[in-house]
Amino acid sequence: MVDIGRREFLRIGAGAGLAAAVAGPAALAAGRRPAEGKPVRVGCIGVGGRGQHLLGHVMAVPGVEVVAICDIDRGNREGAAETVAKAFGTKPEVLGEGPYEYRKLLAREDIHAVVIATPCYWHGTMYVDALNAGMHFYGEKPLAIAAGELKAVLEAYQAHKDVAVQIGFQWGAHPGRRELFKLVQDGAIGELLEGQAQRPNGWDGHGGWYADRAKSGDWMLEQAVHEFNLIWSVVGAHPVRAYTAGRTGVIPGRNTTNYYTTILEYPGKLILRYSHGWIAVPDFPTGGLYINFTGTKGAINVMDAYIQLREKPAAGAARIQAQGGGDTREHMANFFDCVKAGTPEKTYCGVANGAGASIIGLMIRQSLEEKRPVTFEETLRDGRRPPVPAA
Ligand SMILES: NC(=O)c1ccc[n+]([C@@H]2O[C@H](COP(=O)([O-])OP(=O)(O)OC[C@H]3O[C@@H](n4cnc5c(N)ncnc54)[C@H](O)[C@@H]3O)[C@@H](O)[C@H]2O)c1
Repeated sequence: MVDIGRREFLRIGAGAGLAAAVAGPAALAAGRRPAEGKPVRVGCIGVGGRGQHLLGHVMAVPGVEVVAICDIDRGNREGAAETVAKAFGTKPEVLGEGPYEYRKLLAREDIHAVVIATPCYWHGTMYVDALNAGMHFYGEKPLAIAAGELKAVLEAYQAHKDVAVQIGFQWGAHPGRRELFKLVQDGAIGELLEGQAQRPNGWDGHGGWYADRAKSGDWMLEQAVHEFNLIWSVVGAHPVRAYTAGRTGVIPGRNTTNYYTTILEYPGKLILRYSHGWIAVPDFPTGGLYINFTGTKGAINVMDAYIQLREKPAAGAARIQAQGGGDTREHMANFFDCVKAGTPEKTYCGVANGAGASIIGLMIRQSLEEKRPVTFEETLRDGRRPPVPAA
């Protein structure tokens, strides 16, 4: 087994792929490509709230067939199987008597891809298993909620880069936004100087695993990774250091962080401020969710998808407004296009995005827990594992 260190992590984070020397020969995923004109055969693992929503999107993709459902909750798995039976006329295989029964589904050679929407503390374990089975997967965010499991996913990915992975960052499916990321990385707004981002939610009413930070990873992993994926996509580098302050215990019945503000320092001149909380008052303006960066030559508004230049160019306008939308439907369609075409490198938000977003959340969380600035390297050394039951 190869231990993922800073160098390998940075390489994958830069999107350049991992060293060929450590890439394994296991081309398992090659056998997971449907024959020309045949349907993509899909299994769904985890069909609670999000999983049922995704199932609807899966069933809407032309040329896709749902052949297996796995969930440890009997009501959820039977309900989802019924939905599939109604739509396609055939009941899928139903699994989920034990927490590791999903491995039987991953072992089925006649299944080409799975959609995984289980609680966050399962992600790293299931994604490692899917990679080792050569199974293409659309997996909900975050990629992982602990540095130890994040490294385990990266290690498995080193040997199975032929697996198409789409992490559930559906905002990354916006085609115009992706064009703007490229423009920024090509220097359109000059050197990045300052970033400002926030997500102010209303009073937190979540229960179950969402309210348990050991299982959700806390809000900087469960939710804010959507923003961190976009931030990583703009910057193309990982933070050097995170300084965070936050409060827990203001909202009763949960041990998750109720609000926090972090400062991320990046290589070069970039400093980013991000605030996230669950205390916004209805009808009191907060400015909403935004992610903005200012550079030496201009600025980018990521959520509204435009760049504003300091100086109007000789030809064209000072504002470059990206067109188009893109959400879960497009994100799912892109995943299945990649499975059908055998182009795993073309998913919109693969393992590099998942790792780039998770490491930001992990640095913020560690800094908050330890009440001090932490570096990227310190966070990568944290070896904790999420609370999955023994196999
Ligand atoms: N991309 C998005 O915008 C978005 C939105 C909501 C939720 N999510 C993510 O989706 C995931 C699921 O969230 P949810 O709200 O659907 O949670 P949920 O609790 O409603 O559903 C999770 C399901 O997984 C099942 N499950 C748990 N352990 C399992 C196991 N070992 N094997 C098989 N099934 C298992 C549960 O029984 C449940 O049915 C989370 O990671 C969440 O962060 C993403």
